[in-house]
Amino acid sequence: GTIFVLNGPNLNLLGKRQPGIYGSETLADVEVATARQAESHGMSTRFLQSNAEHQLIDWIHEARDQAAGIVINPAAYTHTSVAILDALNAFDGPVIEVHISNVHKREEFRHHSFVSLRADGVIAGCGTQGYLLAIDRLAKLLADAN
Ligand code: DQA
Repeated sequence: GTIFVLNGPNLNLLGKRQPGIYGSETLADVEVATARQAESHGMSTRFLQSNAEHQLIDWIHEARDQAAGIVINPAAYTHTSVAILDALNAFDGPVIEVHISNVHKREEFRHHSFVSLRADGVIAGCGTQGYLLAIDRLAKLLADAN
């Protein structure tokens, strides 16, 4: 099956933006690594990034027909978006939420996640490796479901 890997605002600047917090790997690097990880489980990925909330919501809607599972780093929308939560609630497969940084070690406003109300698992503070851990977890959940 296909896993949608969705990335929210400012993650297009990964590697250039606050490298002390987010590391020096680019989103293109993460795309290659996640595709390889999915492939090792016999799955494929559709890797997407947008700075626009509506675009992320439209992709979650597309996932209803096209994706076995979703990995999502909603970035700042994590902490603000009931609309992304609602869209994920309309998706039936497993969802893993990823944050590159440890949001719980940071400002108070990053401690609450709307998306966590829906996520089957949450990975934070593992750097970009978190995406690979999320792929592994989805592979396990999907295998167990079959
Ligand atoms: C982030 C954490 C969010 O609080 C922040 O707004 C981001 C990235 C992370 O991956 O650590 O943009 O989701």
